Amino acid sequence: MRAVVTGCAGFIGSSLTDRLLELGNEVVGIDSFDDYYAPSAKRDNLAGALRDPAFTLVEGDLLDLARPDAACTGSLREIISAADHVYHLAAQPGVRESWGRTFESYARNNVLATQVLLECAKDVGVESFVCASSSSVYGDTDMLPMDEEAACRPYSPYGVTKLAGENLARLYARNFGMPAVVLRFFTVYGPRQRPDMAFHRFIRAVLEDRDIEVFGDGSQTRDFTFVGDIVDGILAAPAAPAGSVMNLGGGCRVSLAETLDVLGSVMGREVRIKRSPVQAGDVRDTWASVTRARELIGYEPKVDLAAGLDAEYRWLASIA
Ligand code: NAD
Ligand code: UGA
Repeated sequence: MRAVVTGCAGFIGSSLTDRLLELGNEVVGIDSFDDYYAPSAKRDNLAGALRDPAFTLVEGDLLDLARPDAACTGSLREIISAADHVYHLAAQPGVRESWGRTFESYARNNVLATQVLLECAKDVGVESFVCASSSSVYGDTDMLPMDEEAACRPYSPYGVTKLAGENLARLYARNFGMPAVVLRFFTVYGPRQRPDMAFHRFIRAVLEDRDIEVFGDGSQTRDFTFVGDIVDGILAAPAAPAGSVMNLGGGCRVSLAETLDVLGSVMGREVRIKRSPVQAGDVRDTWASVTRARELIGYEPKVDLAAGLDAEYRWLASIA
């Protein structure tokens, strides 16, 4: 089968691309290599894929590629028309960074870019369209675990744009019968994790003998999900009915303080902490109900926190 992966150079997109190639698929990857974090890290993520003749990289921005005069490798419409499955992971991520002037980038990459991609997919027809959404659509709630029927009241500008993006995907499914499926990922970690995210920052700090910066008192909880489990869920998603929305979580909820104990054991080093204020936009708790994903696509997270942190630690130690 032929797959298009948007955001193919990012943390999750590159992990998905590698798996699709391992499974013998042809993959066209699209990425703008934006500078939210080092583009060189994104090129490293794609090093293996670029050696595979079944992989084609289209370096460009979805919105630019959608313009009729797009000067890149091919227009978005042509790229999508040659695809069976579209996996839309391109986005401007980052909860805490989404305030102020940077919001423009969130609106552009999470809403406008999603709309042009959906328009292309509607026009040319695809077998499936998998759209990456986020636990951040739920907002700060004590209705736990979060299930897909709960009200969505985002607590960050990022969450607002991810909710708009997933709503676009759902309404293309409702209005045009597009086989679009929305996946709400819960705090993903593992090799290639983005450098702004907690575990990447924590492991780097310990490797460099620095203090770990904890926002708040560490009692906030997250449903941390290993990237390999997320990739399993993404690959299974096309089996769900058009318009489905599913949580993909890690199967357990832990406090940040607990994760630091696990990290200390995994790294066999002392973990020193300094405290900073709670950050605007950060919700207190997340916890995924994965009942629907289990029922619709057989989703079952397999990697526990110690094993997942060990994999991320080994990766970061290898590139340090
Ligand atoms: P990432 O930043 O590593 O990857 C996103 C990639 O998209 C980047 O390489 C970027 O260059 C590219 N991109 C952004 N805008 C683009 C555009 N307009 N055109 C082409 N390429 C563009 O982020 P990630 O952590 O891998 O996240 C992937 C997806 O998963 C995103 O949709 C994100 O919102 C979602 N998500 C991530 C997490 C997580 O914990 N990492 C949790 C929930 C949801
Ligand atoms: C992550 C991703 O960054 C978002 O893109 C994604 O949409 C979101 O998950 C999601 O699940 O929807 P976040 O939960 O903030 O967002 O992930 P981390 O950066 O790993 O932060 C986890 C916790 O650690 C948060 O409570 C945060 O405040 C805390 N943290 C983070 C620190 O205490 N110190 C840091 O240096 C970084």
